[in-house]
Amino acid sequence: MSKSKEIIAKDKQYYATSGRIPYYPLVIDHAKGAQIIDADGKKYIDLLASASALNVGHAPDRVVAAIKEQTDKMIHYTPAYMYHQPVADLAEKLAEISPGNFTKKVAFGLSGSDANDAIIKFARAYTGRQNIVSFEQAYHGSTFGSLSMSAISLGMRQKIGPLLPGIYHIPYPDAYRGLYGETEPRSAEGYLQVFKSMTENYLPKEEIAAVVVETIQGDGGLLEPVPGYFRALADFCHANGILFAVDDVQQGLGRTGTWSSIEHFDVEADLIIYGKSLAGGLPLSAVVGRAEIMDGLQIPGHVFTTAANPVCCQAALATIQTIEEDNLLQASTDKGAYAKKAFTDLVNKYDFIGDVRGIGLSIGVDIVSDRQSKSKDSQAALKICNRAYEKGLLMIAVAGSVLRFQPPLVISYEELDQTFTILDEVFTELANGQLANYDVSGQGW
Ligand SMILES: Cc1ncc(COP(=O)(O)O)c(C=O)c1O
Repeated sequence: MSKSKEIIAKDKQYYATSGRIPYYPLVIDHAKGAQIIDADGKKYIDLLASASALNVGHAPDRVVAAIKEQTDKMIHYTPAYMYHQPVADLAEKLAEISPGNFTKKVAFGLSGSDANDAIIKFARAYTGRQNIVSFEQAYHGSTFGSLSMSAISLGMRQKIGPLLPGIYHIPYPDAYRGLYGETEPRSAEGYLQVFKSMTENYLPKEEIAAVVVETIQGDGGLLEPVPGYFRALADFCHANGILFAVDDVQQGLGRTGTWSSIEHFDVEADLIIYGKSLAGGLPLSAVVGRAEIMDGLQIPGHVFTTAANPVCCQAALATIQTIEEDNLLQASTDKGAYAKKAFTDLVNKYDFIGDVRGIGLSIGVDIVSDRQSKSKDSQAALKICNRAYEKGLLMIAVAGSVLRFQPPLVISYEELDQTFTILDEVFTELANGQLANYDVSGQGW
């Protein structure tokens, strides 16, 4: 039995099934940059960056050194009771790099999920309003608050209710498909109308605390919004005392070429949350917001014993330093344009590619059964991913049909070229019917 098979057999015996979305039998042994080596020595190019949690790549030198140094000095003392320098430095740095021309404060947690819960708490406490509006097909996390704001998976919500009250969902302003089976997108105002009519009929504006957005909707299919939507939504929010909050857990920290993805949309957010890549892969999340909002929550409204531990904070400071000193924001923009051009060239060859979208190195490729109806071809998307996996590329499909392309920002141009050579081969195999009997049942979400 191979080492990978042995490890998976043990995992199947002891690891709770709810903690994994099934894709490939890949047991990762070690990794560097954008390269992964499995337990049996096979190499892969990582196009997923651990769900965008490794923007600075695997085992980045500065982050590894910072972790080692801090671990020798002190692993933890809870900031709920005491102070330490790394958390003060990190709060200052996050306030500095986050957009928004106002005084900011920062709160910390351990995951993107708890940072979303924090939005609910800070927004409710500051506004004195109860309701939160998020988007259909959003994914905000797995705690009760963040899960209540999510609307992407029945399995995630079944049998555990009741979820949090006071959460409403509006349609994401998809720039590719339209609303509920429509093939053409609506205008910004056309999408916004759904929300406005809710507020005119059953959801009083003055009882809404915050709207929470993913700029590019990640797990929902790397969807891009129609132009002008977020500007119009933010105007509506601010005219009605509703906070505008951005979940940048997946799209932040360079993924789209900017510190916060909201910078692409000419909108100032009242609250921004980060997670995933923040500490180079260690568990850390942050809420950055207007000081008056952040101070609006009672003491001790948001404390976690192991949040913001100095090791994670030093890893985060080293992550941000790496992004700055290695120009990774620009790298994301440049490599994103390079990859988008390569995908767009493939559009001309393969008519099952319905759409190539995204900003920077956050790209989605929508696989369709025909371009007219834009019907999702989930089987084809999974077949592509599985065949690519066999050929040494690590990529998954989300929202059924969308190839998720979010490599570490440190991926090299050679690795990108290798990737597109392999993808072209896989696409040809699919087009020639060579993947017809490929079994991908039970995979994905
Ligand atoms: C946009 C977004 N928000 C929140 C989360 C949840 O983060 P975590 O898994 O760290 O709790 C995710 C995870 O995929 C995400 O993509």
